[in-house]
Amino acid sequence: MIDMTSKSNYTKDFLNILHARKSVRHFTGKAVTRKQLEVLLKAGMAAPSGRNEQPWVFIAITERTVLDQLADDLPNAGMLYQAGGAVVVCADISLPIPEGKARLWSQDCSAATENILLAAEAMNLGAVWTAVHPYPDRQYPVRKILQLPENIVPFSVIPVGYPTGEDQPKDKFDIRKIHWGKW
Ligand SMILES: Cc1cc2nc3c(=O)[nH]c(=O)nc-3n(C[C@H](O)[C@H](O)[C@H](O)COP(=O)(O)O)c2cc1C
Repeated sequence: MIDMTSKSNYTKDFLNILHARKSVRHFTGKAVTRKQLEVLLKAGMAAPSGRNEQPWVFIAITERTVLDQLADDLPNAGMLYQAGGAVVVCADISLPIPEGKARLWSQDCSAATENILLAAEAMNLGAVWTAVHPYPDRQYPVRKILQLPENIVPFSVIPVGYPTGEDQPKDKFDIRKIHWGKW
C-alpha cells in the first residue's frame, strides 16, 4: 500500500481537485498499476457509511481480457476498452444490521464511488461512475464475469485510466438550487 499520510505528489488543493473532477470517458489505453488502484481503493474505504458498517467490497481489475469482457457485455461501459484498469464497487448484503434499521449499502457505495473518482482526479487519472445497481441486465454480466458470490451485489463499475484530455469539468453551480433557512 502507498502511504498517503507521507509527503507525496498528491498535494493539489482539495477544492481544486473537487471542481476539476469530471466523468472521463476517453482514455489513452495506457495501463494503470496495482499501486495506483490501491490508492483509489484506500480512498474508497475512507468514505463515510451508515452506522460505520462499511458494507463495500471492491474488485480491482488490471487484466486487459477482463476489462474487455466487461466492455463487451455491459451496455454502458464501452470506455473500458480504452481504460487502463477498473474498480468495481460492490456491497456485501449478508452483513447483519440492527433490527428495525434500514439497509444503507447503496448510499455507502455511492460515497465510496465518489471518493474513488476524486482520488483519481487527484492522481491526474480519469474515471467515470458507470451504474450497475439497480439494473439486473448489468448486474448479471458483472456477476458472471467476476464470479461474485450470491451475497455480493455489484454497485458500480469505475473505468480508470489516463485521460486523453477530451473530457472537461462542467460548471454546475446553480444559485436557484439553494434555499437559505427555509423553502
Ligand atoms: C448514479 C450515477 C450513475 C451514472 N451512470 C453512468 C453510466 O452508466 N454511464 C456513464 O457514462 N456515466 C454515468 N454516470 C456519470 C454521469 O453521466 C455524470 O456524472 C454526469 O453527466 C455529470 O458529469 P460529470 O461527472 O462530468 O460532472 C453516472 C453518474 C451517477 C452519479
